[in-house]
Amino acid sequence: MSRQILATSALPYANGSIHLGHLVEYIQTDIWVRFQKLLGNKCLYMCADDTHGTPVMFSARRAGSTPEELIARMHAEHSADFAAFNIGFDHYYSTNSPENKELCELVYRRAREKGRIEEKEIAQAYCEKCGMFLPDRFIKGDCPRCGAPEQYGDSCEVCSAAYTPTELKNAHCAECGSAPVQKKTQHYFFRLSAMAAELQTWAASGHIQTEIRNKLQEWFRQGLQDWDISRDAPYFGFQIPGAENKYFYVWLDAPIGYIAATKNFCAQTGRDWEDIWLKPGWEIHHFIGKDILYFHTLFWPAMLLTAGLRTPDQVHIHGFLTINGEKMSKSRGTFIQARRYIDSGLNPEYLRYYYASKLGSSLNDLDLNIADFAAKVNSDLVNKLVNIGSRLGSITAKKLNGQLSAPDAAGRQILTEITAAQNYIIKAYDSLEYQQAVREIMRWADAANKYINDNEPWNKKNLEEAGAICTAGLNCLKILTAYIKPVLPVIAGGIEKFLNCKELNFSNAGAILINHPINVYEHLAKRVDEKEAARKLLG
Ligand code: MSP
Ligand code: ZN
Repeated sequence: MSRQILATSALPYANGSIHLGHLVEYIQTDIWVRFQKLLGNKCLYMCADDTHGTPVMFSARRAGSTPEELIARMHAEHSADFAAFNIGFDHYYSTNSPENKELCELVYRRAREKGRIEEKEIAQAYCEKCGMFLPDRFIKGDCPRCGAPEQYGDSCEVCSAAYTPTELKNAHCAECGSAPVQKKTQHYFFRLSAMAAELQTWAASGHIQTEIRNKLQEWFRQGLQDWDISRDAPYFGFQIPGAENKYFYVWLDAPIGYIAATKNFCAQTGRDWEDIWLKPGWEIHHFIGKDILYFHTLFWPAMLLTAGLRTPDQVHIHGFLTINGEKMSKSRGTFIQARRYIDSGLNPEYLRYYYASKLGSSLNDLDLNIADFAAKVNSDLVNKLVNIGSRLGSITAKKLNGQLSAPDAAGRQILTEITAAQNYIIKAYDSLEYQQAVREIMRWADAANKYINDNEPWNKKNLEEAGAICTAGLNCLKILTAYIKPVLPVIAGGIEKFLNCKELNFSNAGAILINHPINVYEHLAKRVDEKEAARKLLG
């Protein structure tokens, strides 16, 4: 029975460009989605821009445009960057949409009905000159611990101390520099504390990696704090119904954006969004980074449970990207934007391959080491995989009239073995152990190359023998191409064209091409020069 799966990646903030760190997540999700589709499952990949909040409002103001203009521009930029890396969203929407507004109001209404919303007066930093309450990140001052100047209101980038904005010395508004005052304001809180038992049950039911469960237990032990879901005007977001000049905090409307994207997509394609988010039948899988764990494993299930909507079957959490062993940093020039990679001329599929070769299901950070990147692409993709096609393609064209015949006995043997590896590879992809899948595929690419080298089709005077070897070798390539296709959709497409075969998937991978005409081999993958790559990406 085929599965029905909704997959999402976290919604990138509309006030920044996509960088190689983000791409770990979008590539991880995209490989999984493509894999599910190639396996014959029904799978939808939903995403959107996360558009609301104070930073977008200020960025727009600084750029002399409206928030709507800014988010439209960023939507186009993000979409183009994702397309260049072949991230195949079924829908890429926006949280600033009518569906999202309506769904936020629905969730809020149900929360009120259940007594989960509490109004409380709080005191918050307020800038009289700017006429607004200041989020922690918009207050700067000297770190109360180490004294470093110009630190944000929540934490110090120099000594890593965490504190509240009131503890900062010489606190000032990051926009205009004037000293904030404390001002009272009425806020709306979501009573997370009332849901501890329910959330604990959810968290213990296998929806998250085991290594995270302990982290969550720690949070439960500390006790859950009620969550401030409102912000005062001026704010770019959705107004809270029945409240004056109050807006939903961006983190309330952002995850609801997953549903809004689904709803908009369903309306466009004649489906019913309620089949996915209301009724059993579809699996819901979120892919996120470890920094937004709290939002997705506590706030989000709390909202869904309260609203009577489906909770995620799985939240897959990945680690962070480092570059040459260090945290990405603007000052060190290692904050590599997706656009910079695209403009470098390096094949985007090389990055997909590199990430896949290092990704597992754990939360470990992943390092992009440029020397290792070049070595892996050259040895695996160029020398192992594509090399089978370029070598045998030229013999087949020159000596065999471009025609495959039938494999010999030794060839049949290896084809049977590669076909038998399929179950292991499927399990590895499905459980996000991509590095295992890739390693297994390359092990069989080695075996295929060894078979070809041992049999030297280029030295065979007997053309029937040469044909049998080329046929076996190119059928190995066909199966391996089907296996690697979730990672390398474009290179796989090039090999399908070369082999003149149907679009490959996991059910037709093992069917052997016999007495079959193929096309001339066209170059599919170029070697990476390490020095040149380092110069173009870093420096
Ligand atoms: N807008 C929120 C998510 C809302 S989801 C309802 C957000 N946006 S983000 O642009 O900062 O990050 C988007 C995703 O990229 C997050 O899952 C985040 O963990 C991931 N990454 C951002 N930088 C990353 C690395 N350096 N490495 C790996 N993933 C990273 O958070
Ligand atoms: Zn100010």
